[in-house]
Order: sequence, then structure tokens, then C-alpha cells
Amino acid sequence: MLPAYLPNPVAALFGGGIPVDLGRSCPDGRRVFGDGKTYRGLIAGILAGIAIGLVQIWAAGAYGLGSLPRQTVLSVMLLAVGALLGDLLKSFFKRRFGRERGAKWPVADQYDLVAGAFVLLLVFDPAWLFSEVTLPAFICILILTPLLHRAVNIIGYLLKVKEVPW
Ligand code: CTP
Ligand code: MG
Repeated sequence: MLPAYLPNPVAALFGGGIPVDLGRSCPDGRRVFGDGKTYRGLIAGILAGIAIGLVQIWAAGAYGLGSLPRQTVLSVMLLAVGALLGDLLKSFFKRRFGRERGAKWPVADQYDLVAGAFVLLLVFDPAWLFSEVTLPAFICILILTPLLHRAVNIIGYLLKVKEVPW
């Protein structure tokens, strides 16, 4: 899951500048995505996710990874792109439900990246998804994701990278 987990914190570190929605709003008067979704965050996050995935592929070749899932260039790209597309789509619906940028939206804030990554895998590489992500692995992901999300966001808040600890 590293290629899906890394894009969010990297987007928080390097994001900023031009927002993905270019400042535009929907007919409901609220922003399409909001100022928390920027091109810089999107690009830096995706590149970081792909980079860590390529390191995983290299490490698996050089050292072996036992029974851990084997990344491919495609799986790495789908995990990284899917994570931030999920995050972006989450923000779209968050705005439609009237929640401001940075507001807390339990469950969606934690699982957007997992949903995005897995939907892309399901559509573009289901063979990899079903051979590499076993049921126990999937359950681990569901348990670990909100814990990691919370821990990393608290760290980001303490380091003043994030304005809120969620
Ligand atoms: N970020 C970015 N571009 C993205 C995703 C994130 O620039 N595509 C940066 C923004 O600075 C954002 C921070 O990372 O404020 C934290 O991301 P997140 O918590 O997802 O955004 P929020 O500001 O909470 O906005 P939202 O309510 O839309 O989730
Ligand atoms: Mg947030």
C-alpha cells in the first residue's frame, strides 16, 4: 500500500498554488474541490507514490520480499493515481454536502485513498488485485489505514504542515 499511502502526506508537504478547480464553484455556490486540492499536490503526490513503488519493485528483485505482494509498474501507478483521485472525489462530495475545506468528515477522510486505489485496480488490473491482495491483507488494510491516517496527520499538525490534526 506504500504507493497509495505516500501521496497524501507528500501532497500536504508540497501542495499549494493553483487549485485543481481553478477557483471555480458549482451551481450550489460552493467550490468544486476547494483550495485544499492543488495541481502541485496532485503531481508531487503521484510522483512520490510511483517512486516508492519503483523502489519496492527494485527491492523485491534485489533482496526478495518473501510472500509480500509483488508490485508491477501498472499496480504502482494505479495505487498512486487512485489514492489522490479518491481524495479529490472525496473533496468534491465533501463540498456538495456543505463541509468546508479541512472540516472533519469521518470515514470518508480515512478511506478515500483506499477506495480510489482499489477502484482503479479493479477496473484496470483486476488480475493483480485478486492475486496479490488476499482477504487477510485486505482486512489489515482496513484496520491499519485509519490508524496510520490519524498518526500521520497528528505528526503533520505538530510539524505545522497541516492546520488540523485530521
Ligand atoms: N493537498 C494538495 N493537493 C491535493 C491534496 C492535498 O495541495 N491534491 C494539500 C493541501 O494543502 C491540503 C493538504 O494537502 O490542505 C491536506 O490534504 P487534505 O486533508 O486532503 O485536504 P483538506 O485541506 O483537508 O481539504 P478537504 O476538506 O477538501 O479534504
Ligand atoms: Mg482533510
